[in-house]
Amino acid sequence: MGLFSFLTQELAIDLGTANTIIIYNDKIVVDEPSIVAIDHTTSKLIAIGERARQMHGKTHENIRTIRPLRDGVIADFNAAEQMIRGMVKLINTKNRFFSPSLRMVVCIPSGSTEVELRAVRDSAEHAGGRDVYMIYEPMAASLGIGLDVEAPDGSMVVDIGGGTSEIAVIALGGIVCNKSIRIAGDGFTADIQAYMRQQHNIKIGDRTAEDVKIAVGSALPDLENPPADYVVRGPNLMTALPIEVPVSYQEIAHCLDKSISKIETAILGVLEQTPPELYADIVQKGIYLSGGGALLRGLDKRFTDRINIPFHVAEDPLHAVARGTGIALKNVDRFPFLVR
Ligand SMILES: Nc1ncnc2c1ncn2[C@@H]1O[C@H](COP(=O)(O)OP(=O)(O)O)[C@@H](O)[C@H]1O
Ligand SMILES: [Mg+2]
Repeated sequence: MGLFSFLTQELAIDLGTANTIIIYNDKIVVDEPSIVAIDHTTSKLIAIGERARQMHGKTHENIRTIRPLRDGVIADFNAAEQMIRGMVKLINTKNRFFSPSLRMVVCIPSGSTEVELRAVRDSAEHAGGRDVYMIYEPMAASLGIGLDVEAPDGSMVVDIGGGTSEIAVIALGGIVCNKSIRIAGDGFTADIQAYMRQQHNIKIGDRTAEDVKIAVGSALPDLENPPADYVVRGPNLMTALPIEVPVSYQEIAHCLDKSISKIETAILGVLEQTPPELYADIVQKGIYLSGGGALLRGLDKRFTDRINIPFHVAEDPLHAVARGTGIALKNVDRFPFLVR
C-alpha cells in the first residue's frame, strides 16, 4: 500500500470480439469496436476502433480492416497486439498524466487455450502491463452483474457477445460448468444478411445488417412495444439497380429463430450438467443475461417461456463484463480465481 499503490496505475480491459472496453480510475475511458485498419504494404496501423470501423467494407487494396478477435478467440495475433497497444495509447491522449500501466486485469473467453492465454498476456505486457492478471469472462460478467460469486450458491450467466455466447454456472468463486458456442451477435447479423439476399434480393454489407438488427431485431414475432419497420436500401441482386425494402421485426424474429434456438439448446445443455443443489438455486434466482446480444428485443421473454426459469437482463449489458473486470482489478489480492 502507501507509496506503491499511489504509483501503481491500474487498468481493467474487456477484450471483446465486438467491443473493447477499458476502465481506468473506475471510469470507462475506452469503449471502441475491436477493429484495426492496417496498411497492407507497410503493416502499419492506420486507425483503431470507431475510426477503423468506419473504413470497414469501404477499403481499397492497400488498407485492410481486421477484427483481431473472431469467434471469441484471437484470430490474428499481430493485429490483436497492435489493437491493445493502440487502445491503451488512447488513454494517454485523454489523460495527460497517465504513465504506462503496471497492473492490468484482462478478461478472456472461458474457452481460451493455453496458447491464447499466453498471447493475451504477451500483448498486455507489450502494451505496458507489468503485473498482468486474467479473468474468465463468465466470472467477470457475474461480478459486473453484482452477483456474490463466492457464495455457496449457484448462479447462471449467459453472455451473448459478438462472436460467442458463453453460458456458465458459478459457485464458491469458481466456474462449475460452462459452454461456449460460436453463435452470437455476428451470427445474427449474418442471418439477416442472408435473409435479405434470399427473401428480398437485396445485397447488404454487415454494417447495414447490424443496423437492421438494432432497429428491428427481435426474438419474438409478437412484441408488446413493436418498433416501426426499417427501410433498407441497396442494390438489387439481379439488376444492380437501387431498391428500397421496408423490413418488419416479425421478419427478423423469423430469420433469427434458428440461431436463437441453438443458444437455447446450449443453455439447456449446461443446465443438464448442473449439480442438483446448484440447479435449485438457479431456478429460484433466475438466469442473468449480459453482452450486447441481451439487448435483442424479447430475448429474455423468449428464454423464460422456453426454459421455464426467469431470465433477467443485466443493467447495462454491454458493460457488465468490463465493470466486473474493474471489480476484479480492485480485489487482485483477495480473489483466488484470477489467472496469472
Ligand atoms: N440493441 C441491440 N440489439 C441487438 N444486438 C445488439 C444491440 N446492441 C449491440 N448488439 C450486438 O451485441 C454484440 C456486441 O456485444 P458485446 O457484448 O460488446 O460483444 P463482445 O463482448 O464480443 O465484444 C454485437 O454483435 C452487436 O451487434
Ligand atoms: Mg464480451
